[in-house]
Amino acid sequence: MGSPEKKVPVDLSRCISLDDFQRQAKPILGKALYEYVASGTDDEQTLSENRQAFKRMFLLPRMMRVVSDIDLRLDVFGQRLSMPVFVSPAGVHKLMHPEGECATARACAEAGTLMGVSQHATVSLEDVAAAAPRCARWFQLYILKDRELTAGILRRSEKAGYTAICLTVDSVRFGSREADWRNNFNGLPPGVTLANYPTQDGYNDRVKDAWDQNTEKLFDERATWSDIAWLKSLTSLPILVKGILTAQDAVSAVEAGASGVIVSNHGGRALDGSLSSIESLAPVVKAVRSVPTGANVPIFLDSGVRRGTDVLKALALGATAVLLGRPMFFSLAVGGQEGVQRMLSIIRDELEAAMALCGCQRLQDITKDLVTDFREGG
Ligand code: FNR
Repeated sequence: MGSPEKKVPVDLSRCISLDDFQRQAKPILGKALYEYVASGTDDEQTLSENRQAFKRMFLLPRMMRVVSDIDLRLDVFGQRLSMPVFVSPAGVHKLMHPEGECATARACAEAGTLMGVSQHATVSLEDVAAAAPRCARWFQLYILKDRELTAGILRRSEKAGYTAICLTVDSVRFGSREADWRNNFNGLPPGVTLANYPTQDGYNDRVKDAWDQNTEKLFDERATWSDIAWLKSLTSLPILVKGILTAQDAVSAVEAGASGVIVSNHGGRALDGSLSSIESLAPVVKAVRSVPTGANVPIFLDSGVRRGTDVLKALALGATAVLLGRPMFFSLAVGGQEGVQRMLSIIRDELEAAMALCGCQRLQDITKDLVTDFREGG
């Protein structure tokens, strides 16, 4: 179990929306692997809310503005990117396609956008960098019980040219995805490894245990905000905190020295019942801007983004950019590098069309008055 079951050739031109990739990926991946990616924790309340919350929010478009020259480019931590839509750091790309993270990195390089590379990648962080040197890359880190190993991985990522560290803080334990239990899906097929871990010292066993929900053997359950200072003592890279849903935690992250915040509930795969990411965003933005050092801290969002209009809504509420998780997996399964490229170009076109229809020529023109927001900044 754990590899795409059938090689079903897909005509990529039949993928018109991001959800089409998910539909097309289903027969390719087979039930267990498809559900491993698609499913969420427990009752999947948060998984479903991530989409529903976007649909409860409406656009208030402005007319008769010049939109003949739309510009989606932005600069983040000194890097120029082609659009405010990035790929979320997420593990195990080789379960979707034999080229794994290398194919995703090449697609992001072609699209001129940024890829988050997971600590749980199936290609080593150095090999991902070598596969697509032009790809803008952030490295996603978990704080492990083994602090030396954590520090070693962090140092390797800086050396390999990653431009920021995303510290994931919402998964000190993995959410229980009941679909995986029912399907007896327990991870990696022969020949696929979590390539950033050493092969000696029983790490494969500990990683295997983590898949079986015994994450306490792998992750440090005693990590606190003071560990941001520890990470900063090891690297000069900006540190983003991924998995923030409350104003209080956003303030703690910035006060602890984080250079950025990613509002996320791990795509509904961490705590079920937590608020959707889009409804968490405005209070986080307001709180971060109220911290003296927070005026220019970029705030990102993932979890549930599937349309150009979703991107526009998130930007209107103060996000600098959004990230995509499952659409990357499904497009990778459907068409490898080409699939991910097509997926990214679809959402790019959708965002451009949404901006034109809202009267926005540049990203700075996307302001709060373009959306109905029921939380009004908390
Ligand atoms: C993830 N995600 C994730 N996040 C992270 O910080 N490290 C990781 O290794 C992974 N691995 C992972 C695997 C799979 C199969 C999925 C679906 C997700 C979470 C990911 O970065 C992102 O937060 C969500 O996927 C965003 O939600 P959407 O776009 O999938 O709705």
